[in-house]
Amino acid sequence: MCGIVGYCGPKKAADVLLEGLKRLEYRGYDSAGICVNNMGNLRTIKRTGKIKDLRNIVPVTFEGHTGIGHTRWATHGEVTDENAHPHSDDSEKIVLVHNGIIENYQTIKNKLIVEGHTFKSDTDSEVIAHLIASLYTGNLESAVKETVFLLKGTYGLAVMHKDIPDKIVGVRNGSPLVVGIGDSEMFLASDVTAIMAHTKQVIYLEDKELVVITPDSYKTFDFNEQELQKKVENIGWDLDQIEKDGYDYFMEKEIYEQPESILRAFVGRIDREGATGHLGGLNMTPAELINIKRIQIVAAGTSYYAGMVGAYLIESIARIPASTELASEVRYKNPVVQPDTLYFVVSQSGETADTLYAMKELQRKGARVLGVCNVVGSTIPRKSDGGVYIHSGPEIAVASTKAFTSQITVFYVLTLILARMRHLSFEEGIRIVSALESVPDKLREIFKDTNSIHDIAKRYSKYENFLFLGRGLNYSVALEGALKLKEISYIHAEGYSSAEIKHGPIALINENTPSLFLVPDDNLRDKVINNIKEVKARKGKVIAIAVKGDDEVAKIVDDVIWIPSADPLTYPYLMVVPLQLFAFYSAIELKRDVDQPRNLAKSVTVE
Ligand code: F6R
Repeated sequence: MCGIVGYCGPKKAADVLLEGLKRLEYRGYDSAGICVNNMGNLRTIKRTGKIKDLRNIVPVTFEGHTGIGHTRWATHGEVTDENAHPHSDDSEKIVLVHNGIIENYQTIKNKLIVEGHTFKSDTDSEVIAHLIASLYTGNLESAVKETVFLLKGTYGLAVMHKDIPDKIVGVRNGSPLVVGIGDSEMFLASDVTAIMAHTKQVIYLEDKELVVITPDSYKTFDFNEQELQKKVENIGWDLDQIEKDGYDYFMEKEIYEQPESILRAFVGRIDREGATGHLGGLNMTPAELINIKRIQIVAAGTSYYAGMVGAYLIESIARIPASTELASEVRYKNPVVQPDTLYFVVSQSGETADTLYAMKELQRKGARVLGVCNVVGSTIPRKSDGGVYIHSGPEIAVASTKAFTSQITVFYVLTLILARMRHLSFEEGIRIVSALESVPDKLREIFKDTNSIHDIAKRYSKYENFLFLGRGLNYSVALEGALKLKEISYIHAEGYSSAEIKHGPIALINENTPSLFLVPDDNLRDKVINNIKEVKARKGKVIAIAVKGDDEVAKIVDDVIWIPSADPLTYPYLMVVPLQLFAFYSAIELKRDVDQPRNLAKSVTVE
């Protein structure tokens, strides 16, 4: 998704901008560009493709100490050099980069065309540059402020004027923007990773706030031009944490990091003495928690599947009716909000537009909405009524892996708290605590031998269609496994409850459509085995993920990925990790761009 970097200070702006854009690559993009102001001389360079290609065409003479840069992920207009940012007006005095979508850009554009403006791109963003130029009378921040009053939609903007070589105006409405405070240098960025090599002191802008930066100063204002005193915060993550740590791919590193990241999600949150947990961020008293009659979880993509695991745990163990809904559907269905329902929005990035808008809609109706997020200081944690950080550390690969296992961990702890407040005995509580504590070591056991998963992925990567089948707690894991395979290997895969295949999907089964069955040794094992036999009877190839020693499964399937025997409650962890590896090795075999799969963005900040 689009990214913004801005710089004002003593360094060569082009270098800072290109480095910042490189850090934003993980968000996904299709083109990039920078503009620097060299003593009143604006120079812009932009093109489709990767940052390294852009870097190759930036001349060494590209001087200037103030500048803005952008990675674009096309929304309005095709992927072309002209549509890449920065954009400028006719006189080429105003130059800007923009994240978000301007809904009324066509009306404004038509009016500006009548007034004599000519446009070089098809973007909604260029319209903003022309509008600012038409309202500019010598004060850049006033022109920007007057402009945003005319815009409908979402925007994070960084704007420069040719005649003001050491100033950038930033404005936020619905698209994140953060100010970085350095020593005689200032930064702007859509995401802290772009600037954290230079400073850890940041200010998060809220919607309808504007900032003016120069090398030595920053001033923040609301849209009524009232100056604001904003809190300076310290970024907790180190840049080292973002490096690949010796692995070839971020996704690989993030898969192998899970024993530690899962631990971080529950450490300090378990109370063995009370066989319960603590989640301070919920901001709820025990009396409030005991009155909850229903829980609804709202999210998108992988976070949605983690939410499904959460709802299953809450309903089956804490005995509170719980369900999961797609964020994109919640916003427009005029949802019914009841006072005794507690809502959770789950989002790794904390910036997913569908999830954010669903949260706002629920809050508008009076709901209490809590967040389960990874990126500290992102919009959802700041706007929710409380919540829990999953503490995964930065997830750079576009495909989410460690965030999923940390999100479900938070739901295990939440389930434990809610269940222990109700009927769950001390002994049953301790069973959940011990099960959770055993997960990191069980995963390390899986990591000791991943060759068989690699080998199976290699042999099966020639197939074009897959079914992923699981039941109960592992049904959502099957859906997540199918999503992972689709998004990084581009192999078509559908996830179903294995009981559902007889209601339709079994028609797809033949020797060219393998099925991947999740077979834990739980109460549904025998039923899953029956489903495997149905597939085998139709000449379908079957890979099973099964518990070590389950010879009956080994006899009826074509290939097995073994996982250690464990408390059935923890099988979602032990099943999902081999599925992540299966997708990863399949993608490697097919020479896909594992960390940045086509058409996908890490943080989906448009609807
Ligand atoms: C899948 C994936 C996406 C995200 C989804 C929600 O690997 O990365 O499906 O899970 O876009 O993103 P967050 O969790 O940031 O709200």
